[in-house]
Amino acid sequence: MLQHFCLGQFSAMFLLLLCSIFAVLSTAESSIYEVLESHGLPRGLLPKGVKNFTLDNSGKFVVHLDQACNAKFENEFHYDRNVSGTISYGQIHALSGIEAQDLFLWFPVKDIRVDIPSSGLIYFNVGVVSKQFSLSSFETPRDCTVVQLMDLQDDMHIADAVSKSQSEELRYKFDQGNIGRKAIL
Ligand SMILES: *[C@@H]1O[C@H](CO)[C@@H](O)[C@H](O)[C@H]1NC(C)=O
Ligand SMILES: *[C@@H]1O[C@H](CO)[C@@H](O)[C@H](O)[C@H]1NC(C)=O
Repeated sequence: MLQHFCLGQFSAMFLLLLCSIFAVLSTAESSIYEVLESHGLPRGLLPKGVKNFTLDNSGKFVVHLDQACNAKFENEFHYDRNVSGTISYGQIHALSGIEAQDLFLWFPVKDIRVDIPSSGLIYFNVGVVSKQFSLSSFETPRDCTVVQLMDLQDDMHIADAVSKSQSEELRYKFDQGNIGRKAIL
């Protein structure tokens, strides 16, 4: 009986310890999302899997992800392992490390801007044009799927001539990569 009690207490303490470790980890992990939020930007602009980041007084930031990966919003987005830019209220300038797919082409996203938050729109400047998306789709950080660099390069090279079936094949490869990763974990 006493033994049971001690065992119970021990597991409770162990659980408590585990919980506090996770709490510390998740606080560290969520802080870049809090930086986004405090600048009037949606947390979901960056995917899950941020390892660490730096931010200086001028708003210049560098975010390190576990791996380069893709996340699906209204369009597919690719995140390099290192994403950098300059953040100010309602916008990110001089962005580097995020590409958006549109009509099978990948465009580097250079600036991101929330106009009037009440408009519910967010603008991505991809050089030639500015694309608008609904702000709400970026509310929460997405899962980011690791892609093989080869697949992505293939995808970029054949971008202008790609057929629907090829794109499905690429998608299939992405999915397979994800399963492989899960199996390893
Ligand atoms: C952040 O993570 C990257 C990638 O793992 C690493 O190279 C870098 O040294 C880390 N920076 C800090 C400040 O921990
Ligand atoms: C990302 O940043 C880290 C730390 O600054 C650097 O060591 C690494 O080479 C960078 N990786 C890429 C792919 O640029």
